[in-house]
Amino acid sequence: MQFQTWKNKVTDVAADCLIIGSYEDGALTPHAASVDAASGERLSRLIKRGDFNGKLAMTFMLPEPDGVKAPRVLVVGLGPKAGYSRKAWRKAVAAAMLHAGRTQSKSVALALPRPTARELDDQVFGRVVAELAGAALYKINDLKTAKKPKPPQLDTILLESAKAAASKKIHAGFDEGVALAAGAVAMRNLANLPGNVCTPSYLAKQAEALAKRYKSITTKVLGLEEIKREKMGCFLAVTQGSDEPPRFIVMQHKHPRAKKAPLVLVGKGITFDTGGISLKDPPTMDEMKFDMSGAAAVMGAFTTLGELNLPLNVVGLIPTCENMPSGRAIKPGDIVTSASGQTVEILNTDAEGRLILCDALHYARRFEPAAVIDLATLTGAIVVALGTHHTGVFSNDDALAHDLVKSGVRADDRAWHMPLTEEYGEQLKSNFADFANVAGRDGGSITAAAFLGKFTKDLKWAHMDIAGTAYAGGNNKGSTGRPIALLTDFLVRRAAR
Ligand code: BES
Ligand code: MN
Ligand code: ZN
Repeated sequence: MQFQTWKNKVTDVAADCLIIGSYEDGALTPHAASVDAASGERLSRLIKRGDFNGKLAMTFMLPEPDGVKAPRVLVVGLGPKAGYSRKAWRKAVAAAMLHAGRTQSKSVALALPRPTARELDDQVFGRVVAELAGAALYKINDLKTAKKPKPPQLDTILLESAKAAASKKIHAGFDEGVALAAGAVAMRNLANLPGNVCTPSYLAKQAEALAKRYKSITTKVLGLEEIKREKMGCFLAVTQGSDEPPRFIVMQHKHPRAKKAPLVLVGKGITFDTGGISLKDPPTMDEMKFDMSGAAAVMGAFTTLGELNLPLNVVGLIPTCENMPSGRAIKPGDIVTSASGQTVEILNTDAEGRLILCDALHYARRFEPAAVIDLATLTGAIVVALGTHHTGVFSNDDALAHDLVKSGVRADDRAWHMPLTEEYGEQLKSNFADFANVAGRDGGSITAAAFLGKFTKDLKWAHMDIAGTAYAGGNNKGSTGRPIALLTDFLVRRAAR
């Protein structure tokens, strides 16, 4: 996606599609008023006739209005003028991009009022425009055999020119948004694939492909024998019931100017979670193909890192396997030894995410990381607690948690800081091992985090439970690409420090 600017009169903008806005009470924005005046009041008449009411995100295409250079003028509803905010602006831009993407327009000019700088600074403004365009153009990677429609042609976005300093920031932000969109597409395409295609070996191949595509990235893949050599007893316990071989993926993004200790990102890569012997109920079990969303998010973040070549040192760790019932599967009550040496009584084989993550978190220690962040569709309990709007953030370091929450706010990819005090860890008590892998129903997302906390002592660590946010069920079933926007903001700010 290309970035360009337009200046002077809105009626002279040379773009295939010009996007203007109108409020709910019929009030036109200044740019819309200019178009209205030049076109013989096409817009006013449209509104008077009642065909366009300005409701937020409503769109209407005016083809070839007189007095306007652009061959298409797309009017988008901005909702009530008094309530026009960053949120409304986002929804309006998203709707307009979606509509413009369905035309043959190659270039689109935005002429909507910008939210105040306090709500949206120049850099994030540019970033969000590119992010929303990328999301609007995303076509789900289905395996339907019918002929695919012609893909959208849109490849250029024009924004109204600003003062030089602001323009530079907007442009830089736009490039971040393009990389963010590429990361989100990478994540969504991986997570949407069915479990019979997206196996642990497939994920490993894709991680190797990332290293081919980006000079800054290297990938190393451990197979079963090497995983055994690392004594990852918990990870091995989960994979032992499956016929698909496990993989432990180690990616590294290294910039020559990055001298600081690395940030480690760990992603849960269960390519299908049946629950194992503690088998899940059938109704929505298919959605457990999304149980590698954490892994997909790490690979998405690496795509963004590779695109931007950010001056950072980042390690990506992905333990990946299936969780299956079989004659070789682990059974409730089995006791295994983790890579850290601590023993775990597996009371519920469906609490497998924490088992593969605990060995990966231990592996992270060898990088002497500045911080470790894991991403996992870890618990149904976080969906009960927060629904699908906020990602749950747990941490042994308040500053790190606050930083992630802040990125969520800046990126409109929200996260909520959850408690993580000792009492929850005490609930994991076992009579037979150092601790159990589950602790009953109460505070289920927190006891899961507390389990991981047993393996991250003396590390600066945060855990993001994305079970409610990484994918949607029902009619909109599919990966959402969250939390790539949050992570992009986090990484960009970290690189600027
Ligand atoms: N992958 C699931 C968590 C999950 C559930 C993600 C629903 C998305 C939607 C995880 O492996 C799991 O099964 N967790 C159990 C833990 C329980 C056995 C303590 C759960 O949440 O039910
Ligand atoms: Mn499970
Ligand atoms: Zn799972």
